[in-house]
Amino acid sequence: MAEILDGLKVSKEIKQEIKAEVEKIVAGKRRAPHLVAILVGNNGASKAYVNAKVKDCEEVGFQSSLIKFPSTVSESELLEKIEELNKDKSVDGFIVQLPLPDQVDQEKIINAIDPRKDVDGFHPTNFGKMALEMDTFLPATPFGILTLLERYNIETKGKDCVIIGRSKIVGRPMSILMGRKDFPGNSTVTLTHSYTKDIEEYTKKADIVITALGDPHFLKGDMIKDGAVIVDVGITRVDDDSPKGYYLAGDVDFDSCAAKASWITPVPGGVGPMTRAMLMKNTIIAYKTSVYND
Ligand code: GUN
Repeated sequence: MAEILDGLKVSKEIKQEIKAEVEKIVAGKRRAPHLVAILVGNNGASKAYVNAKVKDCEEVGFQSSLIKFPSTVSESELLEKIEELNKDKSVDGFIVQLPLPDQVDQEKIINAIDPRKDVDGFHPTNFGKMALEMDTFLPATPFGILTLLERYNIETKGKDCVIIGRSKIVGRPMSILMGRKDFPGNSTVTLTHSYTKDIEEYTKKADIVITALGDPHFLKGDMIKDGAVIVDVGITRVDDDSPKGYYLAGDVDFDSCAAKASWITPVPGGVGPMTRAMLMKNTIIAYKTSVYND
């Protein structure tokens, strides 16, 4: 029976560490770090994520601002706001919540963000630095998974790691990070995706499986080997009869996988809260490099 990689517990520890650091900063008569989030439109999940990020800021003592645009916003209006935030000395980091509406070119928006304020780690400069193992902002979800593996001291060196899903914000960066020369890392990585002929052939041999697919309960116990480490990035809203009208489902069929795995992340309470904590971590890193170097 697997032990739990408790993302909720570790995220609380990290936020506590950040809070203590902010208290010291403020006691030294310096301003608190400031994170800005841009939210476009009315997507329920996006609204929930951004509200959670604002709440996290309050919890650790950051200043936060939420800038809302209607779903009809033009690309140039967004670019103008980004330019303003790039120049604003009171803003350490900002994020543009994705996805964006069709009339807006997502790539143009991300490329317009000053890489020094790109606390999501999505800008090509930061992605490139990550791939070259230089100091940079790591995207929050991969950073959260690495931190979780690190704090539980999960051996990754020489292990076979299979990643399911090649998104730009999770699967692809995760595949690079698990193969880097560091801990966690030094794994032999296979990046599987929608054109992989037989995913099971890979997952059955893997020491570590990281799923970022968005397909509820996809990974079943008979698809993994005994003692595998299972990391579930999936958070899909599945309709049900609860007062909320949905529940959050991971990519992993928890019970059948937990019966075979050595370690497993739950949903909720695994990778999700770690992602949120690492955005706070990136913001305080941005703050230190902006304010202290002024
Ligand atoms: N949409 C889904 N995940 C993320 C994230 O980590 N950052 C942003 N900006 N948008 C997202």
